[in-house]
Amino acid sequence: MNIIEVKNVSFSYNEIMILDNINFNIKEGETFGIVGNSGCGKSTLALLLLKLLKLKEGTILFENNDIKLIKKKNDIKNFYRNVQIVFQDPYSSLDSKKTVGYLIEEPLVIHKNYSKNKRNKKVDNIMNLVGLDKKYKDNYPHQLSGGLRQRLAIAIALVLNPKFVVLDECVSALDISIQAGILNLLNDLKLKLNLTFLFISHDLNVVGYICDRIGVMNKGKIIEIQETEKLFENPKDDFTKKFLNNDYYEL
Ligand SMILES: Nc1ncnc2c1ncn2[C@@H]1O[C@H](COP(=O)(O)OP(=O)(O)OP(=O)(O)O)[C@@H](O)[C@H]1O
Ligand SMILES: [Mg+2]
Repeated sequence: MNIIEVKNVSFSYNEIMILDNINFNIKEGETFGIVGNSGCGKSTLALLLLKLLKLKEGTILFENNDIKLIKKKNDIKNFYRNVQIVFQDPYSSLDSKKTVGYLIEEPLVIHKNYSKNKRNKKVDNIMNLVGLDKKYKDNYPHQLSGGLRQRLAIAIALVLNPKFVVLDECVSALDISIQAGILNLLNDLKLKLNLTFLFISHDLNVVGYICDRIGVMNKGKIIEIQETEKLFENPKDDFTKKFLNNDYYEL
């Protein structure tokens, strides 16, 4: 079953076309990748999927529901319980005055369905799952290393048990050695927690490592979608071929 369907989505800022007729589906349990150069429109697409930007042209379905029609307070709350995003740099998106423990607990406080005791248990459980030692609970985000901060951002995104998580350049700011640890963690978490991922990156190696299928984007268009192995073995589009050869910066 498709958890996400993107149909004929276009988007402009000040009459400049940023996304041009985007179409793809994401199956339940899949890690779908979007790869493309800086500025090609990847984050804009992510923001539209999360209802953080207003969709004007085209349709996005989440579990067969048109996300444009999700308007009631309770429906929106429910949407953000199920759909989450992890950004590249949690440093700028995390409130530096709140402790690690509270940042993870906060979504549970906002959703009000949990007693203090249950919240504590959930925080401990998710910290354990993402490999963030309990000793960091009273620390502040800036006291963590980049890799641990990204584990924190993942914990915050997962604490409400979402179904679908968008990871936008979530390892791009990290050293290669740390990247692998986070990618393996994401793979583990996906299986343990029955998640579906949209994994966005400009780095083909990273996307190739973690994704089941990949959509290649160039200048606001998806130019090719293939299963990962097939994309690497038999890229169809000239841009993809150049991208694979690492000389895409000439384009
Ligand atoms: N708020 C905005 N107002 C006007 N133009 C914008 C705005 N945000 C993004 N853009 C433009 O939209 C285009 C796509 O940006 P977007 O951030 O989606 O690209 P991206 O593929 O995520 O790039 P990166 O790999 O650098 O993260 C760029 O040309 C950018 O300058
Ligand atoms: Mg981006």
